[in-house]
Amino acid sequence: MNILIVYSHPSKDSYTFQILEQLKALLAIQKWDVKVSDLYAMDFQSNMTEKEYQRESFAKIEMPIPDDIIAEHEKIEEADCIIFLYPVWWSDCPAILKGWFDRVYSVGYAYGHKTYFPKMKIVKYGIAICTAGHPNEFLHEIGISQSMKTIMLNDRLGKRFEHKEMLILGGTLDIEQVRGDHKNKIEELVLRIKSTCI
Ligand SMILES: Cc1cc2nc3c(=O)[nH]c(=O)nc-3n(C[C@H](O)[C@H](O)[C@H](O)COP(=O)(O)O)c2cc1C
Repeated sequence: MNILIVYSHPSKDSYTFQILEQLKALLAIQKWDVKVSDLYAMDFQSNMTEKEYQRESFAKIEMPIPDDIIAEHEKIEEADCIIFLYPVWWSDCPAILKGWFDRVYSVGYAYGHKTYFPKMKIVKYGIAICTAGHPNEFLHEIGISQSMKTIMLNDRLGKRFEHKEMLILGGTLDIEQVRGDHKNKIEELVLRIKSTCI
């Protein structure tokens, strides 16, 4: 089974990096093939160029797709499961990941336009995991969990994934209160990947 992790955090001293390491260790036990698009480490270009904008906006699918985007398309096509892992910054994903969606979800690939149909495969399982400073209860009370889930699951993952879920690992401002619970949630998630994809 092939897993792609699209990871967005600039620092190895972060809690999100610890989650990445835990996840990779658990996936390795299953002997699954894991690829990581580490967006900061790759220095992923998140800004859309004018040429790309013209391709998108006017659905000029005959215009070339940049090599870094083709490389991401190839990783998607190989994946049975894609995991987006990131910290919540201002109630959304970091800009570098937003830029990944802007550029990698190119017209004619991830979405159609009039007579053009998307070529992207339907991926078996799509998972968004985000760490958040605020506790889950507070994020729910102020409507942020709901809006993050709506955007991530209904739009960005959308119909491109057969099964979808979002795990909000909140409360990192008081990390020792939540570390054990988060660890269990990641372990349970890996079991769900196994039962869903195999
Ligand atoms: C620029 C920035 C914006 C943030 N915005 C939010 C936010 O809107 N909601 C929230 O719950 N936490 C927010 N946080 C806290 C992060 O989600 C938290 O630091 C992260 O979950 C775990 O920390 P890590 O950076 O060690 O991985 C923000 C942190 C930064 C640096």
